[in-house]
Amino acid sequence: MTARFPQLRRPRRLRTSPILRSMVRETTLLREDLIMPVFISPTAGTRREIPSMPGICNWGLDRVNEEIDAILESGIRQIILFGEPDHKDEIGSDTWDDEGGIIQRATRQIKDEHDDDLFVLTDVCFCEYTTHGHCGVVADDGTLINDETLENLQLQAISHARAGADMVAPSGMIDGMIGAMRAGLDSEGHENVGIMSYAVKYASAFYGPFRDAVDSAPQFGDRQTYQMDPANVREGLVEAALDVEQGADVLMVKPALSYLDVIAKVKEEFHLPVAAYNVSGEYAMVKAAAANGWIDEERVALESLLSMKRAGADLILSYFARDLGPRLPTGV
Ligand code: PBG
Repeated sequence: MTARFPQLRRPRRLRTSPILRSMVRETTLLREDLIMPVFISPTAGTRREIPSMPGICNWGLDRVNEEIDAILESGIRQIILFGEPDHKDEIGSDTWDDEGGIIQRATRQIKDEHDDDLFVLTDVCFCEYTTHGHCGVVADDGTLINDETLENLQLQAISHARAGADMVAPSGMIDGMIGAMRAGLDSEGHENVGIMSYAVKYASAFYGPFRDAVDSAPQFGDRQTYQMDPANVREGLVEAALDVEQGADVLMVKPALSYLDVIAKVKEEFHLPVAAYNVSGEYAMVKAAAANGWIDEERVALESLLSMKRAGADLILSYFARDLGPRLPTGV
C-alpha cells in the first residue's frame, strides 16, 4: 500500500514523547556550568537590593554569609566576587591592599569557612576602585595608560591569590594583562591559581545595571579605547589568541546573548574552556518583562542560558544561577 504523502524523513517522529525528546536532546545545562556573582559592600549591615537587578543585593561583610548559604543551598558551588571599596583613589590602591582591601577581606572570610565546598573567583579590575571610574591608570589627558596599569594588575592578582582566590578574572581589556598576571602569580608560588580572561569583552550598553550596583560608571569619556567595538569578531579572535599565548586558562566572551556568534567562533578556534557572561542588562530585561507578566521568567532564563551553552559556552556567569540551581541537574 502506498502512503498518500510518502516521506522518508519525518523529523517529527523524534519529537513524539517526552522520553524520546530527552533521549535525543543535544545540549543540557548543568549546575556546574553556572557561576554566581556576589557583590560586597564596604558598609557593615548592608543588604541593599539593586533596584535594576531584583533579587541581587550588595552585601556587607558581616551579612554576606546569608547569600553564600543561599547559593550553596541552591546547589551552586562557584561564585565570582565584585567589591566596592571604603574609599576610592586615583589608582585604585584598595585592590592590592592585603589587609584592608574589600575583596581580600571577603575572600579570606569566605574561604576560611568554605575552603572545600566553594570555588571562589575574583574580578580583577580598577573601575570600582578609582575616583575616575576607568579600568586602570589614567593620564592627565584622560587616556588609559596601558603598561602602568599592568604593574598594578600584577599587584592586584597577587594580593587576591594571597587572600585565597582560586581563580582570578581580569576584566579590563588591557593589552598584556594575562602575561603580566601569570608572571606575577608564578613569582609568588601561586602557579595553581588560574586565570579566566575576559578575553573578548565589548563596549556594551548591557552593563548599565552593574555600574549602578558598584558605582563604577566612568566619570568622563567611555570605555571604547579598551573594550571592543560590538561590530567586530575577527578582532575578538586576535584578543583570544593573545590570551592563550600568555597563559589564560579560560576564555570569556561578554556579554553573552547578543554575542552568541562570537562564543561559537571562540569555541571553534581555541581548545580552552569558554565562559559566557550573561550580564546585568540581560538579567534586568528578563526581570522587568516578567514583572509585567509579559514573559515567563524561569522559562526565558533557562532558554537563554541554554542558548549560550549550545553556542559553545562551557561556563556561564549569571545572576540567575542561585535561583535556577535547584531546577538543574548535576553531572557529578
Ligand atoms: C569591570 C566589570 C564590568 C562588568 C564585570 N566586570 C563592568 C564594565 O566593564 O563596565 C559587567 C558585568 C555586568 O554587567 O553584569 N569590573
